[in-house]
Amino acid sequence: MKTIRLILALVILALSPVDQIAAAESNCLTCHRDFEEDTGPSHKITRDVHFQKGLDCVSCHGGDPTLEDMDDVRESKGYRGVPDHREVPQFCASCHSDAAYMRGHNPALPTDQLQKYKTSVHGELLFGKNDSKVANCISCHTVHEIGSAKMPHSSTHPLNIPFTCGKCHSDADYMAAYDISTSQLDDYRASVHGMALLERQDLGAPACNDCHGNHGAAPPGTSSLSAVCGNCHALEAELYNLSPHKNAFEENDFPMCETCHSNHRIIKPYDAMVGSDDTALCSECHSHVDGTKGLETAEGISMAIAELVAAHDQAREVLEDAIEKGMMTTDEEFRLKEVDQLLIQTRTLVHSYSLDSVLPKAEAGIQKADSVKTNSASLIDEYYFRRKGLGIATLFITLLALALWLKIRRL
Ligand code: HEC
Ligand code: HEC
Ligand code: HEC
Ligand code: HEC
Ligand code: HEC
Ligand code: HEC
Ligand code: HEC
Ligand code: HEC
Ligand code: HEC
Repeated sequence: MKTIRLILALVILALSPVDQIAAAESNCLTCHRDFEEDTGPSHKITRDVHFQKGLDCVSCHGGDPTLEDMDDVRESKGYRGVPDHREVPQFCASCHSDAAYMRGHNPALPTDQLQKYKTSVHGELLFGKNDSKVANCISCHTVHEIGSAKMPHSSTHPLNIPFTCGKCHSDADYMAAYDISTSQLDDYRASVHGMALLERQDLGAPACNDCHGNHGAAPPGTSSLSAVCGNCHALEAELYNLSPHKNAFEENDFPMCETCHSNHRIIKPYDAMVGSDDTALCSECHSHVDGTKGLETAEGISMAIAELVAAHDQAREVLEDAIEKGMMTTDEEFRLKEVDQLLIQTRTLVHSYSLDSVLPKAEAGIQKADSVKTNSASLIDEYYFRRKGLGIATLFITLLALALWLKIRRL
């Protein structure tokens, strides 16, 4: 009984420590709760990370929480009131840029948000041009229900980020005064990344901020934005950096990955992208008379991949036949998986744009696929051989039985 009461007390304490302390000490909350609707600050605040970590109205707005009248509060020492759009960054940064203060609460939190924000297009326009339409801290974080990126309700949770940014960036009316497109959200949602994140909840796929930064909101042309794909696609970036395209693209001011894959509407790559057909990517820049080995290489890579795919498919077909016939195929199934891997690696090696890199890998894949095919075919031969053997045996036994039966009858 005693332990149950103790657990109960602990649960109550754990569930509402801040609430009770704040309510006991602060008239701000009690009075505001009395007259505000459910959507008012004093109700929303229970979802707010500040409130959950023990901060309250006074921490941000200032004022004397023992007073019982709002007019007196407004007159009281330290009352900061409500910041306007342009003042918000300083308002939040009064704590968040104060390293000593933040260390006392959560030493793991960075304190560079304002500094980075100032370098973003948002910050430059807010401070430089007094632009009230760009994002400030609360456009991205909301107010009175601010969460950390881990909280599912938070506007900065990865699954919510595309809509947090898209709220402005996909609103053509809102963005009419600016010379940029408003298709980023739609494009992103149709991309491999958008589908992975929003439809399959794959948190490894990038949301807007994984490419643009949280507070830097890097604009086009920044080198960090161009290199960001390599943070996750390290192999492709490594190959690209050693390839003839690295220098050629830099000289022509082509961004590294987007030139071929685009930035927001990245579709699933397919083999026909490489080659010398009119529809292939390579033909957009290369021709047979441009004096480079570009298109010749493209043709070679395309043929190597096509041969590997064909060898793989044939091997699979024969193997499936062997599986259907009930043969012991574990080894060959495992080896076909290795061919799958070699095919993936060959496609990645496209980013070397070099036959010397692609051909050996494709060749290794083709050889392995051919041996899977040969071995599976032997297994199928064995099946027929055994079946033939079984047929002969059955015939033999039947004849024997017949002979026996005749003999018995004669006796
Ligand atoms: C006795 C009730 C009461 C108390 C106590 C009270 N408020 Fe208010 N507060 C109000 C009312 C009423 C308004 C005005 C709402 C309106 O105009 O719609 C208001 C407005 C505000 C505003 C909006 C800006 C402004 O100046 O009008 C802020 C911010 C605010 N209160 C914060 C606080 C804080 C912080 C405390 C505690 C230090 C506090 N309030 C204590 C009733 C109260
Ligand atoms: C983390 C800081 C923070 C805390 C904590 C906080 N506020 Fe605010 N509050 C703000 C900011 C920033 C604005 C300005 C919002 C805007 O510009 O839209 C604001 C605006 C307001 C307003 C006026 C506009 C509105 O949204 O209705 C009221 C009233 C208000 N706060 C009351 C409160 C009360 C009551 C509490 C405690 C329950 C509280 N706030 C806690 C930061 C805070
Ligand atoms: C009174 C000081 C103070 C003010 C003003 C303040 N914050 Fe905070 N903020 C904190 C503290 C303290 C924490 C919680 C640290 C902890 O314990 O994890 C926090 C946490 C946060 C977090 C969650 C960080 C994480 O990932 O865990 C965000 C986001 C945040 N604040 C944004 C804002 C924004 C936006 C504003 C302005 C509207 C603001 N804060 C104003 C003190 C403040
Ligand atoms: C363009 C949108 C945007 C703006 C503007 C913005 N933030 Fe953030 N902020 C984010 C995102 C997105 C994250 C976190 C993402 C994550 O960790 O995945 C974040 C994270 C944070 C954190 C957690 C610690 C960290 O740095 O990761 C704090 C604190 C914070 N922001 C405060 C602020 C303050 C203060 C301002 C204004 C000076 C501000 N933010 C402006 C989008 C924004
Ligand atoms: C409150 C509305 C609003 C929100 C929310 C917002 N932005 Fe912006 N953003 C703007 C406006 C307005 C501009 C200025 C456009 C210009 O001058 O080209 C801008 C500019 C930018 C630019 C520079 C574009 C360029 O070519 O100059 C980038 C990149 C950007 N935002 C990314 C983001 C990301 C990423 C998020 C979410 C994490 C976000 N924005 C959230 C309004 C917003
Ligand atoms: C996979 C990385 C990536 C993701 C995810 C991403 N962006 Fe971008 N974004 C880029 C790159 C790269 C550019 C620059 C293109 C250039 O240099 O022409 C860009 C450009 C922009 C611009 C400048 C205007 C334009 O369209 O060229 C804005 C605004 C923008 N992105 C907003 C967003 C928003 C909002 C989201 C989320 C819905 C988002 N981005 C998601 C990589 C990304
Ligand atoms: C935060 C990590 C991250 C960043 C940054 C990133 N990606 Fe991705 N990307 C992924 C993940 C995870 C997938 C797998 C999605 C899936 O399951 O389909 C993926 C898938 C892809 C695919 C499809 C691959 C396939 O075989 O289907 C391409 C192409 C791609 N990304 C290109 C890019 C480009 C170009 C950029 C930069 C503009 C970029 N990515 C930035 C994580 C990232
Ligand atoms: C956006 C334009 C563009 C696209 C698309 C493109 N290339 Fe290139 N490529 C270039 C440029 C520019 C050079 C440098 C040409 C020079 O040295 O004069 C180059 C050089 C090369 C070279 C070195 C040629 C030599 O003779 O040294 C190879 C090989 C190559 N590309 C293969 C490819 C393949 C394969 C594809 C398709 C997957 C492709 N390229 C797609 C622009 C492009
Ligand atoms: C010159 C054009 C070109 C450039 C530049 C380029 N790619 Fe590719 N990428 C391709 C082609 C073509 C394929 C399709 C290969 C296939 O499926 O046969 C591809 C496929 C991919 C794939 C899926 C296959 C795999 O490797 O898993 C990813 C992921 C990818 N690219 C990422 C990137 C990244 C990241 C960059 C920048 C470092 C980049 N690409 C630069 C042309 C390019």
